[in-house]
Amino acid sequence: MESKIKDLNDKLALAYLGGGQDRIDKQHEKKKLTARERVLYLLDDGSFEEIGALVTHRTKDFGMEKQQFYGDGVVTGYGTVHGKLVYVFAQDFTVFGGSLSETHAEKICKVMDLALKVGAPIIGLNDSGGARIQEGVRSLGGYADIFYRNVQASGVIPQISAIMGPCAGGAVYSPAMTDFTIMVQDTSYMFVTGPNVVKTVTNENVTSEELGGASTHSTKSGVAHITATNDVDCLEDIKKLISYLPQNNTETTPLLPYDLKDEIREELSEIIPDNANKPYDMHSVINGIIDTDSFYEIHKDYAENIVVGFARLGGRSIGIVANQPMYLAGVLDVDSSKKAARFVRFCDCFNIPLLVLEDVPGFLPGTDQEWRGIILHGAKLLYAFSEATVPRVTVITRKAYGGAYDVMNSKHIGADMNFAWPSAEIAVMGAKGAAEIIFKKEINKAEDKEAKWKEKEAEYAQLFANPYSAAERGFIDEVILPKDTRRKLIKAFAMLKDKKVDGPERKHGNIPL
Ligand code: COA
Repeated sequence: MESKIKDLNDKLALAYLGGGQDRIDKQHEKKKLTARERVLYLLDDGSFEEIGALVTHRTKDFGMEKQQFYGDGVVTGYGTVHGKLVYVFAQDFTVFGGSLSETHAEKICKVMDLALKVGAPIIGLNDSGGARIQEGVRSLGGYADIFYRNVQASGVIPQISAIMGPCAGGAVYSPAMTDFTIMVQDTSYMFVTGPNVVKTVTNENVTSEELGGASTHSTKSGVAHITATNDVDCLEDIKKLISYLPQNNTETTPLLPYDLKDEIREELSEIIPDNANKPYDMHSVINGIIDTDSFYEIHKDYAENIVVGFARLGGRSIGIVANQPMYLAGVLDVDSSKKAARFVRFCDCFNIPLLVLEDVPGFLPGTDQEWRGIILHGAKLLYAFSEATVPRVTVITRKAYGGAYDVMNSKHIGADMNFAWPSAEIAVMGAKGAAEIIFKKEINKAEDKEAKWKEKEAEYAQLFANPYSAAERGFIDEVILPKDTRRKLIKAFAMLKDKKVDGPERKHGNIPL
């Protein structure tokens, strides 16, 4: 027995070495952790159980039978994060550049299948040169097996992707179909075709970083939801994200114990400027309402005119969607509509109640927006809110103009509680523009046009630049003092916690894509 135990230990020691010490050193030189180091850092101490450490590839072409590494370039298994069960796979760049072979894909599929059967999040740590070139179509088949499972798992268990090295070609589509993609600055990139192909086809000169680095995907394309400064930061982000999520779509995130005491927040009364055209930072409203330091922003640097993220409110995990008057006056445009719609749908999949903070002057006008399809993309957000069955609460802090009023979780599309601050202006448009249109003739006839315009503007503002007209109709449930917002919201979400909605029977809706 002793020799047999030694034999096993020798094999496992080889497996733990991946592609060997030289390649591990190279990985460290690039300021990257190895796959195994990443998994061990991510999971609670002592919780990792590996599956398939002794798997090897089956390829005999190109002399591959002589190059065998236990594990075949991916470390897979399960463990816990904050005590919650998660499944994980981490591609090992030290073995064939972390490239995906048939057996490498089988290992990933195995943990994905387990995650789906058991109902726990799956976390993928990507660091790979793409398809195992020596395996041809077998590797491509492996990708498709993973993609298929990503879709089966979508909306059932949370799926999180970290990009911690290369992720190119077909490999990008698995992260793209997961719920969140976190990219590490400087050491990761994602693209469908790399700089060389780009140069050949379009004659553009572009670096990997410019084409698909973390900053590109977190500011320009929106492919990355979160940017991390290094590997450790990235793994910490995953842990943080997990803390806001339930295990699957049949559960809710457990309430954190919270001592309810500071429910009156006087500072909220000081935020809205007297001049309605002056910006303010919606983050100060968010932070004024939620449990201290609990906001975790998603897509922070993308479409900054809308803010989305998770927070705790009286210990309850909630999703926040908030217009941001600091950027483009908080208008809805193509990118912000897509960003918010995706977030709303995630929260709805996983029973995370939604809080909407609204200060929106409307949709962004112009040819650029129209030609890029603001009609379709704006419809995504409208659709996402309308179909969401989680508890939904809105607070209008200032402007709620035009169609954007309807879109931003209005009563009419199924919101459960709609509050407004006394500073709210709920109208078809701003008073100045409205006066210009409906009193055009009167203004033109007047001797002092400017004075007449001002008079009509004031008349319109008096009627509509307030929350009362909407409150009289019941479109607003209550006009509340800013300082009471936190208390009102804690009570509203507690009241709504057992909300149930049975929609019409159908295969699935057809969200405008
Ligand atoms: N298939 C098989 N082996 C691969 C591979 C792949 N797709 N990508 C990388 N490798 C191997 C390399 O042969 C090398 O092996 P070695 O350690 O035995 O020398 C090892 O992985 C590391 O690759 P290397 O090129 O030295 O690393 P790098 O950091 O300089 O470059 C890449 C990384 C990903 C940019 C580069 O390896 C690459 O371009 N790979 C091919 C990408 C591709 O076209 N994939 C197929 C389409 S999806």
